Amino acid sequence: MTNKQSFIKPICKQFLENHLPSYHLPRKVIDTTMNNENISVRLATLIDYKELQQLFVDTVNTVCRKDYNEQQIKVWTQSVENEQRWLNVLTRQYVIVALHKNRIAGFCSLDNGDYIDLLFIHKDFQRKGIASKLYSFIEQEAHKNNTSAIEADVSITAESFFKKMGFEIMQEKKVSLKGVEMINYRMKKILNK
Ligand SMILES: CC(C)(COP(=O)(O)OP(=O)(O)OC[C@H]1O[C@@H](n2cnc3c(N)ncnc32)[C@H](O)[C@@H]1OP(=O)(O)O)[C@@H](O)C(=O)NCCC(=O)NCCS
Repeated sequence: MTNKQSFIKPICKQFLENHLPSYHLPRKVIDTTMNNENISVRLATLIDYKELQQLFVDTVNTVCRKDYNEQQIKVWTQSVENEQRWLNVLTRQYVIVALHKNRIAGFCSLDNGDYIDLLFIHKDFQRKGIASKLYSFIEQEAHKNNTSAIEADVSITAESFFKKMGFEIMQEKKVSLKGVEMINYRMKKILNK
């Protein structure tokens, strides 16, 4: 394990004991084909916790590095230490993962039926249409919730992707993470009923 990975803590044992087995099973497959690549999509479970965190850290460390400086990347990756936030995402949000040979190639989460909280694609699986695929399921889920619009706070790195999906920038924001300022965009897509 490298230094940059070492702050990922084991999942809270007590939490797992309190929630098993309901959040773990079944690992429902919602789609099994994609562009002839061996990619399937399923709902995330708590078992995915560490792999999702690792993917998040690796993607920020590599893919987002072109848009953010060293200090910004550092505080962003360190946000993974907020165990409660990740547990909340996995237990309260609609979270889907794309799998390649049993390895998670990307994930996306929808909060409250109308807010994309997390969208991260593995550094080795960029520009293969995986985020587009995950987004199509997220939009379907939003429709099921009778949502009129989806919003997201989008990184500089992901802005082009969201534009391609039909989102528009509502506001450029300066957010502060541990006192370090970062730019992101509040984006919104109006859904057709
Ligand atoms: C942004 C991100 C999710 C896109 O994932 P992806 O699986 O590579 O995206 P897709 O292959 O589905 O891209 C679909 C389209 O979006 C656009 N797009 C995606 N990434 C782009 C980029 N880096 N630059 C310009 N356009 C891009 C393109 O139009 C692309 O179509 P094309 O490849 O045919 O040209 C991925 O790069 C990522 O994980 N980025 C870092 C994570 C991040 O910043 N997340 C913040 C979430 S708010």
